[in-house]
Amino acid sequence: MAAGAAGSRALLALLVVGAMAAGAAGTTGFIKSPLSQKRLTQDSVELYCEAIGNPIPEIQWWFEGNDPNETYAQLWDGARQDRVKINATYNLHSTSTIYIANLTSDDSGMYECRASNDPDRNHLSKSPKVKWIRSQANVFVIERPDIKAHVAEDSGKLVLTCNMSGPYSTIKGHEWVHGDKVLQEDETDSAFTSYTIEGKMEEHSGMYECVYKTSPEIRGQVNISVAPQVTAYKKSEHGNEGDTGVLTCKNPSFPPVTTWSWSKNGESDLQNASGRYIIKSSGNKTELRILKLNIEEDTGDYRCNAVNSYGSGDATVNLRVRSRLAALWPFLGIVAEVLVLVTIIFIYEKRRKPDEVLDDDDGGSAPLKSNATNHKDKNVRQRNAN
Ligand SMILES: *[C@@H]1O[C@H](CO)[C@@H](O)[C@H](O)[C@H]1NC(C)=O
Ligand SMILES: *[C@@H]1O[C@H](CO)[C@@H](O)[C@H](O)[C@H]1NC(C)=O
Ligand SMILES: *[C@@H]1O[C@H](CO)[C@@H](O)[C@H](O)[C@H]1NC(C)=O
Ligand SMILES: *[C@@H]1O[C@H](CO)[C@@H](O)[C@H](O)[C@H]1NC(C)=O
Ligand SMILES: *[C@@H]1O[C@H](CO)[C@@H](O)[C@H](O)[C@H]1NC(C)=O
Ligand SMILES: *[C@@H]1O[C@H](CO)[C@@H](O)[C@H](O)[C@H]1NC(C)=O
Ligand SMILES: *[C@@H]1O[C@H](CO)[C@@H](O)[C@H](O)[C@H]1NC(C)=O
Repeated sequence: MAAGAAGSRALLALLVVGAMAAGAAGTTGFIKSPLSQKRLTQDSVELYCEAIGNPIPEIQWWFEGNDPNETYAQLWDGARQDRVKINATYNLHSTSTIYIANLTSDDSGMYECRASNDPDRNHLSKSPKVKWIRSQANVFVIERPDIKAHVAEDSGKLVLTCNMSGPYSTIKGHEWVHGDKVLQEDETDSAFTSYTIEGKMEEHSGMYECVYKTSPEIRGQVNISVAPQVTAYKKSEHGNEGDTGVLTCKNPSFPPVTTWSWSKNGESDLQNASGRYIIKSSGNKTELRILKLNIEEDTGDYRCNAVNSYGSGDATVNLRVRSRLAALWPFLGIVAEVLVLVTIIFIYEKRRKPDEVLDDDDGGSAPLKSNATNHKDKNVRQRNAN
């Protein structure tokens, strides 16, 4: 028992000494250090640093430019005309991300992450017992080469080209990209690359990119821009009297529509939220809702019109409003059909009455014949039977 108490007391003392030693030493270490990166002008760069210690260390960012007599300067959130953002978190350990937007070649240089948890670390007169620990990364900002992008329409073909000029690193190949689809790939080192599409501009509008496989990667944009290619979701719509009618037009082409409008029978534009009309429009779709459909007022041709910076386009939707009774018509039709059939059968049966003795297999031709022929038939039959 006594030995146990002494043992635990010794252990406690050891822990206290250990903790004091750690405190004094201000143990701080990096878990993650920033990594060197290559970027093009106008790109952005992000450097990340993570440190551990007790107490939790502070992280600072410092920069030294490529000029030989330039000295380290501290970076802060909002520096360089607000192109620098620093986001730090201090819980359990310290993390800090420095983010520099719209890079220029002056941003090239050494970036240093410094961490320290010494209480005197920022004291102006007292020199800290523990120095800041440092971790460095280089950022190389390369002048973005100019890319001349072009689209030519020629005898049913579209030729997209990119021509890169100015200094650039080794080109290991090219890609042509549309959205997240790779359309074409090669491994040539030319500064010029082209991609051919069969068809017309109107059928292939959109944003295309030529990608140069360099380090870092260089992309050029080629837009195939056309006036809106509007289509009606349905060329004719039907609605029941009193219901809400919905007419829809869409425009899958590029660039998106800036203004949508609707008109009826060639009259002036329908106003949104006026009376029974509600118009909802987005870049590639417009929807006209007509509340409480009315047969006389709402039947007609509606035209949706789309405008973008390259022109305009439209489509027409014909709206037919049915009476509520219309739903009954198919049923009434069936009833009428049944009545006609019943009448025919009734008349036929009535006419057949005198010939009841007639054989069953005499069939349906019987009513077409006169009674006289029937009698003759009968006689023939009777003779045959004999
Ligand atoms: C670097 O030092 C030289 C001479 O010492 C001076 O002429 C020059 O302006 C300095 N450059 C910068 C960026 O301070
Ligand atoms: C800062 O970092 C934290 C944690 O990574 C993140 O949740 C937060 O959105 C960031 N803030 C800004 C302004 O980037
Ligand atoms: C990026 O910087 C250049 C000048 O260095 C400036 O002309 C341009 O407007 C900036 N772009 C953005 C998006 O801030
Ligand atoms: C690419 O552009 C350069 C000028 O920057 C020009 O001399 C060259 O002919 C162009 N190449 C092609 C294939 O158009
Ligand atoms: C292509 O279109 C996009 C989106 O409208 C635009 O941001 C970009 O500047 C255009 N590119 C060119 C080369 O016109
Ligand atoms: C229309 O735009 C929406 C999102 O804005 C998109 O999900 C949809 O695919 C687009 N439709 C067409 C036909 O481009
Ligand atoms: C039309 O009005 C409705 C309701 O007032 C509104 O939600 C909608 O955004 C408007 N549409 C347009 C194109 O202004």
